[in-house]
Amino acid sequence: MDYAAQKLTREELEREVAFLHTISTEINSTFDLDEICAIVQRTMADLFGFRHSLILLLDEDGKALSVVASRGYKEACGGAKVPIGAGVIGLAAQKRRILRVGNLGRRRAYAAAIRSEVERSGRAGELGEAPRLPGLPDVEAQIAIPLLIRDALVGVFSVECADIPVFSERDESRAGVVGNLAASAIHNALLYRRLARANEGLQKELTAARAGSGRRVTIDDIVGESKAMKQAKGLLRKVAASPSSTVLLTGENGTGKDLAAKAIHCQSDRADAPFMNITCSALPEALLESELFGHEKGAFTDARAQKKGLLELADGGTVFLDEIGEMSLVLQAKLLRFLEEKAFRRVGGTKDVRVELRIIAATNRDLKAMVKEGAFREDLYYRLRVLPVELPPLRQRTGDLALLLRLFLDQYRAEFRKNVASVSPEALAHLGRYPWPGNVRELKNAVERAVLLAEGPVLGPEDFSALSPSGDGDGAVRLPAEGLSFEKVERELVAAALERTSFNKSRAARLLGMDRDWVRYRASKYGLDRPSRPGRPRE
Ligand SMILES: Nc1ncnc2c1ncn2[C@@H]1O[C@H](COP(=O)(O)OP(=O)(O)OP(=O)(O)O)[C@@H](O)[C@H]1O
Ligand SMILES: [Mg+2]
Repeated sequence: MDYAAQKLTREELEREVAFLHTISTEINSTFDLDEICAIVQRTMADLFGFRHSLILLLDEDGKALSVVASRGYKEACGGAKVPIGAGVIGLAAQKRRILRVGNLGRRRAYAAAIRSEVERSGRAGELGEAPRLPGLPDVEAQIAIPLLIRDALVGVFSVECADIPVFSERDESRAGVVGNLAASAIHNALLYRRLARANEGLQKELTAARAGSGRRVTIDDIVGESKAMKQAKGLLRKVAASPSSTVLLTGENGTGKDLAAKAIHCQSDRADAPFMNITCSALPEALLESELFGHEKGAFTDARAQKKGLLELADGGTVFLDEIGEMSLVLQAKLLRFLEEKAFRRVGGTKDVRVELRIIAATNRDLKAMVKEGAFREDLYYRLRVLPVELPPLRQRTGDLALLLRLFLDQYRAEFRKNVASVSPEALAHLGRYPWPGNVRELKNAVERAVLLAEGPVLGPEDFSALSPSGDGDGAVRLPAEGLSFEKVERELVAAALERTSFNKSRAARLLGMDRDWVRYRASKYGLDRPSRPGRPRE
């Protein structure tokens, strides 16, 4: 801006500087295209009374510009197109020069005139004709500023006015300065948007790859020929075939709820879309909410950027909400709204986001009893139970023991490269009497330990001696005459609870009737963390 030539007073100069400061600070505070356009247009209106303005961006094919933001017009004209070279806006884009035209209302059909004027002097002077965009009033005066980044055209910023015949030169320089600022901010926002989209695409691929990795499981991978299991598998097949009904999986610890959820997803039409799971007990309420629904920038102190939640990332696929019984009543209400309306809001957001997916929920708690106690919403309970599937405990289907033993024996024999071929009939009888409080997971862990320690080709009852068929006995705790080490008992109880729950501290805590921190402290005190073996996540 040539301030000297404009002979500004000191006051005016100070105002201009303040204006530049305001707009450049605001415009650089965001990477959001819509926000940038709004800031540019609002500043122009508030500071200079330029109430009507348009921001257009160059189309990908470079042949036309499309309106991305309009301000001050009765109808929004977003998406309207202006071909390069057409009217004042199109010409400014073609010539890459600022065009200031006036007295448009009194003249008609000036396209040729503007063109020759532009060819001659590089500016349209008071001549011009804007192509009629839908919803625009009769424009009297107009300034069109090409948005350029190192000579490359990004778009056009146009201010228009119906009540004065012509904009001043000073208006032109102000609009020019704003145009320059807007050009780089818009350019950055477009780059940011492209990166964010690429990132989102990669995230989706990664999720899909993760879901697909570790082999796709199908319902046939759920082992069990007992009547109860056949019935459950029959239901799971029906569930997989119905594309979007909500499913509630119930069953004790280790009965295969995770496995069933994954099998439903992999055997449904959604198999190629993401499968995302989250354990509701693993996170505090606020974190769980933002993991599930995402959050807007600034929704809370750490929310530096907008983040998509699992529901958005899993669009088209399946979201598995494990331990749904642990979800707070507040989040239950939000989940219910999502199930009913297929819409939700990000934390701190005001717009509804719509996605299409299937929810599978699981719990080992008695939701009906929780409803009675007021700890679980009744309406959500019925909404989730559209398709309920109960996975039976292992003690009610001991007939499946032999099949499951074979499965895990083969798996660990290969993994540990040990020549363990079978289980003796005595061992099988011993296992049949055991009540399996940890169900299939406990059996799997028992076989793993037995194969690892086995010395011969056949596993006998002694290889499973850690499992006591009497279970918990009569429940009375007896103090031996010689006394005991309380720490040792505590350590063993915590170790057993962690073992039974695959080192899930929340669940272990529940088994012991203590809270998670209590278990966490003791697990670290006694060195009871999950044993890690390279190359294989432990169940
Ligand atoms: N019927 C089955 N056939 C084969 N493997 C099974 C079966 N049921 C469970 N498993 C295996 O047992 C382990 C525990 O199962 P899973 O994690 O699915 O149980 P869960 O019901 O989700 O347990 P929790 O309530 O503790 O979350 C997994 O390794 C799973 O693959
Ligand atoms: Mg589970």
